[in-house]
Amino acid sequence: MIEDFKFTNTPNIEFGAGTLQKLWEIIPKFGKNILLIIGKNSLIKSGKLKEITHNLEEKNYNYSCIAISKEPSPQMIDEIATNFRNSSINLVIGVGGGSVIDGGKAISAMLTKEDSIKNYLEGVGIKSHNGKKIPYIAIPTTSGTGSETTKNAVISEIGPNGFKKSLRHDNFIPNIAIIDPELMISCPSSITAACGMDAFIQLLEAYVSSKSNPITDALAYSGIKYMKDNIVLACTTGAKDIDVRAKMAYGSLMSGITLANAGLGIIHGLASPIGGFFDIPHGVVCGTLLYEATKKNIEKLKENRLQGVKYLKKYAEIGALLIDPTCYNDTNIDVYLDSLLNRLEQWTKSLKIRKLGDYAITENDVKKIVENAGMKNNPIRLTKEDIKKIILNRL
Ligand SMILES: [Fe+2]
Repeated sequence: MIEDFKFTNTPNIEFGAGTLQKLWEIIPKFGKNILLIIGKNSLIKSGKLKEITHNLEEKNYNYSCIAISKEPSPQMIDEIATNFRNSSINLVIGVGGGSVIDGGKAISAMLTKEDSIKNYLEGVGIKSHNGKKIPYIAIPTTSGTGSETTKNAVISEIGPNGFKKSLRHDNFIPNIAIIDPELMISCPSSITAACGMDAFIQLLEAYVSSKSNPITDALAYSGIKYMKDNIVLACTTGAKDIDVRAKMAYGSLMSGITLANAGLGIIHGLASPIGGFFDIPHGVVCGTLLYEATKKNIEKLKENRLQGVKYLKKYAEIGALLIDPTCYNDTNIDVYLDSLLNRLEQWTKSLKIRKLGDYAITENDVKKIVENAGMKNNPIRLTKEDIKKIILNRL
């Protein structure tokens, strides 16, 4: 039976090596005043920033370039939006990792408002944004958050009372996403690893989400199919291989579409409070919890096998996909559940994903994290004790 579902827009997508050049056909449709949001490192090192700004100058665009060096905070977005609100910006372009893509998305939405982004953040403010924004082009340089296709921008205020919350509206889906794997070649291996794990987790969590539908299933499965043999390669011998980077970029792209439509599970339900309280990259939080959280979900689904069988089958399908999909059938589910867990454990080790304890998170912090964890669309309800165990095993 197919249950009712809703599927939101995707951006116009330009995918492939060298597609950055499409920018020069696209920009003239929007106007002359451009706000360019970039990251701090790889774009500059790769020489691509010079190429972009040189072209903008040559074509007589009025542009300002702002660098975002960390996950966007309300203060950062407010400052940039205030500075450019009266500059008649026609187009915002974000070129960078997840923080930059989210930052650009939030700025494009807040240029049309007069007040603080805090007023519009889910669970923080009480106002709802009407979706009016300046057109936005997202150009990712990492394969991770999938933010290039999502309708939300994650905004963080890090500290003891910190939060990670979303500014969300269907209209905030970028107008255009340019996915050029050439831009990802210069991404360092530690970032490639954390981002790759994040994208994979988004695909896996969407695939087993209680809100998944046949479209998100197809897209998540295809994203995992392309990523599975490239996640380790992209961080090692295949880092400079365009085909490897393209397959990772495709996985990330699919992860954004699937998470926007199917939602996520306990790993992302924990990533919000952990990332709000502690200064730890999103991909590392997710990556470090992947094996333990999946193990716990499968254990609980097995305890409730009758109700859980639908999701056990889905986890097993992914286990089979990672190893050998041709041998999968419903009678050997448990074999493939083991294969899945083994592969996730292997990735965590070979990608050198750090533990929570490396970021000064201790046993004393666990209670507060558990209290603030969200279940999202996890396939099975976990108790506070279950969640506590997941965290304790990764301290
Ligand atoms: Fe994520």
